[in-house]
Amino acid sequence: MSRKSMVLILMALLIISLALVACGGGGGGGTAPAATEAPVATTAPAGDPVAGKAQFDTVCIACHGPGGVGVEGLGKPFTTSEFLLTVNDQELLEFIKTGRPISDPANTTGVDMPPKGGNPALTDEQLIDIIAYVRSLHE
Ligand code: HEC
Repeated sequence: MSRKSMVLILMALLIISLALVACGGGGGGGTAPAATEAPVATTAPAGDPVAGKAQFDTVCIACHGPGGVGVEGLGKPFTTSEFLLTVNDQELLEFIKTGRPISDPANTTGVDMPPKGGNPALTDEQLIDIIAYVRSLHE
């Protein structure tokens, strides 16, 4: 085999492996990215409930009440929520980011749960902290 064809084969291998890495890296299609070194986390990283309470007390408290007891005619209570028991942290994060409008068949109150509680500035990290706090409220 000539030196030139060796170089061509090596280059072809390089291009193929680059293409594989590019495809493996998080297409966001619902499955975990294949080519990560770290162990694949199945749930969102645990948040800080103390920081979460601070956020909750400025954003969510208006509708869900202090300590998440709920407010009649507004947000549902978290203390007794069946829903919270059926979703994992990742699903709960998506839920809070989406909200549950009146048009959603799952809406039972006839009141909108706005995306991020109506505060679009909340980051995923802050929402994960809020989730840690909300989880701690369940009886
Ligand atoms: C403007 C009022 C309002 C704010 C602010 C608000 N929510 Fe809600 N939320 C609602 C309403 C209303 C529902 C119930 C919707 C329905 O009928 O299913 C709800 C439902 C939920 C549920 C589902 C509870 C269940 O048992 O089905 C979660 C979880 C939730 N809210 C989290 C949050 C978090 C976290 C925040 C703060 C970031 C927040 N909400 C801020 C009004 C609000």
